[in-house]
Amino acid sequence: AAEVFDYQLLTGKHVVITAGPTREAIDPVRYITNKSSGKMGFALAEAAAEAGARVTLIAGPVNLPTPSRVDRVDVSRAVDMFDACMKTVDEGCDVFIATAAVADYRPTVTADHKIKKSTEEIHLTLVKNPDIVASVAEHDKRPFTVGFAAETRDVVAYAQAKLVNKKLDMIATNDVSGSNVGFNSDNNALTVIWPGGHKVLPLASKAQIAKQLIELIAIRYKD
Ligand code: CTP
Ligand code: CA
Repeated sequence: AAEVFDYQLLTGKHVVITAGPTREAIDPVRYITNKSSGKMGFALAEAAAEAGARVTLIAGPVNLPTPSRVDRVDVSRAVDMFDACMKTVDEGCDVFIATAAVADYRPTVTADHKIKKSTEEIHLTLVKNPDIVASVAEHDKRPFTVGFAAETRDVVAYAQAKLVNKKLDMIATNDVSGSNVGFNSDNNALTVIWPGGHKVLPLASKAQIAKQLIELIAIRYKD
C-alpha cells in the first residue's frame, strides 16, 4: 500500500467513479430508490485523489461531503447517470469504477401530477434502465473498468458471472446478507476478482478498504 501512495501511481490518470443510489420518479412527489449510502464510492474517490489521480465522482442523491480535490457531478435518475458517465468516457478517462446502486428499472411513465388515491389495487409498470458499467466496458475508448456486486447469496459465483458478462477488468464483491458490511455501514469486506486471480480484503473501515482497492487497481491497470 505504501508504494502506491508514496509514488503516486495514479498521477496523471483520470479516474471516474459512480456512487450512491438513483431515484426513479413515479410522480412529482414519489420515487423508487434503494438503501445505498454512497460511502464506498466517496471513500474510493478520496483514496484515488490521494494516489494522485484527477477524480470525477458522479453521485446519485446522497448526504455526504465532497472529498477534497474531487470534481463532483450530481445526478438523480439512472438515465442521467448514464449520460454523465458516457460524456466522461467520450472525453477519455483511464479508470472507471462503478459503485453506484443503479436502479435496475424505472417507471415506464412518470405522471405529470400527483397520482390520486382511487381503487384498492393499482399497478406500476417498470422498464429496464441501461447498464452503465457494461456500456462503459463496450466503449471504443474503454477505460480500465471495475464493477461492484452486492449479493446476499452465492456471492463469488454471481460476481464472477458479472465480471464475464459485463466484460469487466475487475469486480469487487461483498456479502450484504449480514449487517456489519455494505450499504450504510462504515466498514466493508471485499473479495476482488479479475480474470485469472482474486484477493480477499478482510473487514476494515471503508477508508482502509478503499486504499487497498485503489492499490490493487493501480497494480492491475499497469499490467
Ligand atoms: N450497474 C450499472 N448500471 C446498471 C446496473 C448496474 O452500471 N443499470 C453496475 C453497478 O454499479 C455495479 C455492477 O453493475 O458495479 C453490478 O450491479 P448489480 O446490481 O450487482 O448487478 P446487475 O447487473 O444489476 O444484476 P442484478 O441486480 O440482477 O444482480
Ligand atoms: Ca442491479
